[in-house]
Amino acid sequence: MQVLHAPEQLQPYFGCALVPTMGALHDGHGALIRRMCDRGLPVVATIFVNPTQFAPREDFAKYPRTIAHDVELAEACGADAVFAPTAETVYPLGLDAARAEAAAWLLPTVASQPGLEDASRPNHFGGVCQVVARLFDLTRPALAVFGEKDFQQLRVLTDMVRESRGRWGSLMVEAAPTVREHDGLAMSSRNRYLLPEQRDQALGLVRALHAAATETDPHSAETMMRSTLEAHGLTVDYAVVRHAATLLPVDTWETPTRALIAAHLGNVRLIDNMSMPIRRELGNS
Ligand code: PAJ
Repeated sequence: MQVLHAPEQLQPYFGCALVPTMGALHDGHGALIRRMCDRGLPVVATIFVNPTQFAPREDFAKYPRTIAHDVELAEACGADAVFAPTAETVYPLGLDAARAEAAAWLLPTVASQPGLEDASRPNHFGGVCQVVARLFDLTRPALAVFGEKDFQQLRVLTDMVRESRGRWGSLMVEAAPTVREHDGLAMSSRNRYLLPEQRDQALGLVRALHAAATETDPHSAETMMRSTLEAHGLTVDYAVVRHAATLLPVDTWETPTRALIAAHLGNVRLIDNMSMPIRRELGNS
């Protein structure tokens, strides 16, 4: 496997299956890489901690950087190359210019409108779209995969590609299911910040999602999630049920829906989400 830093090295990998990441790789990222391995395309994982998607008070400087381990894991999962560009390669006009233009990258897509992550992380998706667009420009993939773990990000990026009018040819975006630890906790680079005694509290997210699925309607599911999270000592950022495609609010289980949670445990912000079963009201044939 090759580790690439310069854009000129990418040419043999044009048309690849791309796995964009910020490094600190775990088995959730590994599953994305392995998923791309049977597609008959070169598999390229990118590692770049993107400054423009972090708000000033967020953990950009502290974000774990474990490149040697990441390269080993990517190779073990079958990647053909890791592309780890410098900030100068990604943002040749400099970081101040990049930060200034990040917000403009967020198209007024449906998925970016109803709050959720945007509410507490303004400009976050502008920075995500900006860096992913730049990575697409540099690597020219035929296929890119993103995890359902970051469900709103997946929707926003799917919308960006759909609305890009062929900027990246016939690029396809694929969704990959969330990989969980044995106890159900969604794998995340930020789980390493959890103290051992916070582990059971962190499981409040997945327990709340399971509890939501048994409720009679989305509104009672939201109440149930909030009380489950609070019972685990978590500070709720949001705990909502939304339409799975548009992320707009819903009143019934009759369409595809997704329950989405963000909650704080001390300084650690955790997110998780789950598909809810479709149910038709009795009497509606
Ligand atoms: P990062 O958090 O490193 O995640 C990279 C990819 O791995 C994303 O598509 C994310 O959804 C997926 N992922 C993370 N945890 C997962 C899990 N437990 N199961 C399945 N997939 C998982 O998301 C980003 O980086 C950045 O915003 C990025 C898109 C790279 C742009 O900078």
